[in-house]
Amino acid sequence: MEKTIFRYSSPGRIGVALPVLDVPETAIPENYMRKEPIGLPQVTEGQTMRHFVRLSSMNFNIEQGLYPLGSCTMKYNPRLHEFLARIEGLSSVHPLSGDSAVQGTLELMHKLGESLCEITGFDAVTLQPAAGAQGEFAGLMLIKKWQEDRGQTHRNEVLMPDSAHGTNPATSTLAGLKVISVKSNEHGRVDVEDLRSKAGENTCAFMLTNPNTLGIFESNIEEITKIVHDAGALNYMDGANMNALLGIARPGDMGFDVCHLNLHKTFSTPHGGGGPGAGPVCCKEILRPFLPASSVEKTEDGYSMRDRTGKSLGRLLAFHGNVGVLYRAYAYIRTLGPSGLREVSEVALINANYMKARLKPYFDVPNDDGPCMHEFVASGAAMAKKGVKTLDIAKRLLDYGFHAPTIYFPLIVKEALMIEPTETESLESLDAFIDAMISIAGEVDEKPHLVNDAPVNTPVLRLDEVKAVKDLCLVEPIE
Ligand SMILES: Cc1ncc(COP(=O)(O)O)c(C=O)c1O
Repeated sequence: MEKTIFRYSSPGRIGVALPVLDVPETAIPENYMRKEPIGLPQVTEGQTMRHFVRLSSMNFNIEQGLYPLGSCTMKYNPRLHEFLARIEGLSSVHPLSGDSAVQGTLELMHKLGESLCEITGFDAVTLQPAAGAQGEFAGLMLIKKWQEDRGQTHRNEVLMPDSAHGTNPATSTLAGLKVISVKSNEHGRVDVEDLRSKAGENTCAFMLTNPNTLGIFESNIEEITKIVHDAGALNYMDGANMNALLGIARPGDMGFDVCHLNLHKTFSTPHGGGGPGAGPVCCKEILRPFLPASSVEKTEDGYSMRDRTGKSLGRLLAFHGNVGVLYRAYAYIRTLGPSGLREVSEVALINANYMKARLKPYFDVPNDDGPCMHEFVASGAAMAKKGVKTLDIAKRLLDYGFHAPTIYFPLIVKEALMIEPTETESLESLDAFIDAMISIAGEVDEKPHLVNDAPVNTPVLRLDEVKAVKDLCLVEPIE
């Protein structure tokens, strides 16, 4: 193994031209001097550029093609938002600047908060959480604090359906709450009677991903949220799938008390690979006193960043959140406007339903009793019986030039393929993906080894996944 950029290294090759020294030359103190050469490659600018561009093209990205990773909303993010987020006066602010020096950023954060409350139907917001999961944690802590504040310290259970997104039980546990699973019915929705039997005096909150991880809207939502309220608990909506609901339905109108959003999914920030993200939490008035510290307030003199005291649950981050993501979200909301946002969701739903309808003759779609929302879950169980697993199908899609859907999730569907095309795909790209899936379905019967051995056209072939986890090597091998 050798790092390829070092292969081109030759003494004297220079990739940068430093400007002529225009300050007095000073000797570096001996204790700051390197003891031995750092050993960087000596390469030209051209070689460096080719090295990094080639590496970037070895990875799949949304600029390259359709990326139907269910539950991740891998939509195309307009370049305009990148440009706006990089405007000098916005990108160079420092979190410790005085309020008067960053009025533009504070105004933008304040207006973003107002827009998110309007979109979700809530009264108050925190922009601080740096990811959806951190938003979930914050939202649950709000409910926990609210329960404690009214003397209900014994309420330590969170009810959630067995279709819940994986972060829901994880964040509940982190918040010190016990997860009680509620069954899904034959339509993939919450079994209302099971919920009724489990909601009680120990229930702190009910947590629901809506649309759920099967891409299905909970049609009994008002009954569900009432059962929870009647039991003295509050309703949390995981709003990471808001891409299906913008301008159509608002969690605050359905009986939810708190909800987080994944700005990086729904409101246009390139994501994947670990960040950055933003998971603002919107809530009803009763939860406002408990919101995390650090909020932007509008005063007579302009905008100011305040640390909440009193009943606040405290800080979630050292500073005020991932502000770059907030800029992009604000740009997205303002460029689309109310009707544009609604159209985002309408097209996301149409695209998902079109894909489901065309793929259904070739792939089982369990729990399919009507239109889906922004995504749907197919099952490769029948193909697995023929010796081709969902993992093989996912790998084969790479050979056809597509990113794979989310696989083996949700857990309640065998050999699951969770497909979310998003609204930014054209009819041509939807059709190209569908044709690839149909072609793979044919290969399963006629040439299964092609699917079992995939991928064969990618820079890296099938990995030994166990070895890759235990012995990760990100250095490119020399061919
Ligand atoms: C439904 C749902 N909830 C929560 C999350 C967690 O968000 P994050 O990855 O930003 O922590 C995701 C992530 O995609 C999600 O799809």
